[in-house]
Amino acid sequence: MEEQNISRRSFVKGMALGTVVGYFASAGLSSTVFKKALLPKEKLEQVDIGEIKSLKLKVISETSWYDNNVFLNDVKGAGGLLVNQYTIPWTTEMVKSGYKGSNLGGFSTLIEAEFMDGTKKKFLLDSGWSSDWMEKRYKDEGVDEMLAKKQIEFLVQSHEHMDHFFGIQAVLKYNQNIPIYVPKGFYQEGFDLLKGKAFPEAKVKNDYPHKGTITVLDSSKVNVLYPGIALMTFDVPIILRVFGEQAFVFNVKDKGIVLVTGCCHMGIISYMEAVRKKVKGGEKIYAVQGGLHISPFEDWDPQYDDLILAFNKYGVQKIGANHCTGYITAEKMIKAGLPMVRGTARYMTKRDIYLGNGDELLIA
Ligand SMILES: [Fe+2]
Ligand SMILES: [Fe+2]
Repeated sequence: MEEQNISRRSFVKGMALGTVVGYFASAGLSSTVFKKALLPKEKLEQVDIGEIKSLKLKVISETSWYDNNVFLNDVKGAGGLLVNQYTIPWTTEMVKSGYKGSNLGGFSTLIEAEFMDGTKKKFLLDSGWSSDWMEKRYKDEGVDEMLAKKQIEFLVQSHEHMDHFFGIQAVLKYNQNIPIYVPKGFYQEGFDLLKGKAFPEAKVKNDYPHKGTITVLDSSKVNVLYPGIALMTFDVPIILRVFGEQAFVFNVKDKGIVLVTGCCHMGIISYMEAVRKKVKGGEKIYAVQGGLHISPFEDWDPQYDDLILAFNKYGVQKIGANHCTGYITAEKMIKAGLPMVRGTARYMTKRDIYLGNGDELLIA
């Protein structure tokens, strides 16, 4: 038993190590933050993205899977971290803590922005994993109707990972024409799934082929979608054969920059540094919301303490973290005095220590 535990622990450690090349770079950035004061100032060409009046962020689902051991065993059984996610027979039965016995949940956030003239627009970040679970959550929150009535402008896929993307059928069922933004690096399987191809091995299908536009964004510039709303794309290699991640940058009047992320495989410090460098007003990051990818498997490495220390230096006033941030990280962040926004532990989110399913963060 002990031997099993040890091997699992080292596997988890390997998982963290392999997760993002940029992640450890970001963990080490705490020293860069200190060093920066000694270096000559770079000439910055910052993009003025404009501003919005207010922002409402609703967590549709941040519970990507329900049992860490079952998830890790699926990955291990399939051959490890570099295996193509479309070929892994993910566990969908007999999981006690799962949704209807399935280990699959998903990640998806509903965003509502209010523009300076008072008009509002809605967007969706990610489409979750299990289309069963996602459909339930979309229905619970009225997203099915918003989609059907074309009230959601577009869907942004933060990255191609199964827990953020494989539930796409639950979105397309209600609007097959929704415009979609994907990061450069999306694989052919991803485009095929959008078109209606099934991947029986991975137990994923899409019966509602996408008919709208797909925009592929690269990391060359800050992409302004509407005044005050932009996307930044990062070229990062990610485990389970995924490449590239993008995240939102909002500029809320009188508050500052608000970052909304999916998994944040590029590393939260790298993300914040890129925003400081490339976005006007980026030195005042008011809030961060979404997955921060620190201890998704609830393991802890002393290096992560440095990351929290570094994070603390940015003066962020609201942290609506969840998902792959990990509960241990949330505890440590609170202990370090970081302004974590608490949730209500409903709809399968286990603890109220962070923003969970059905919880909302209002920036106004
Ligand atoms: Fe991910
Ligand atoms: Fe994720």
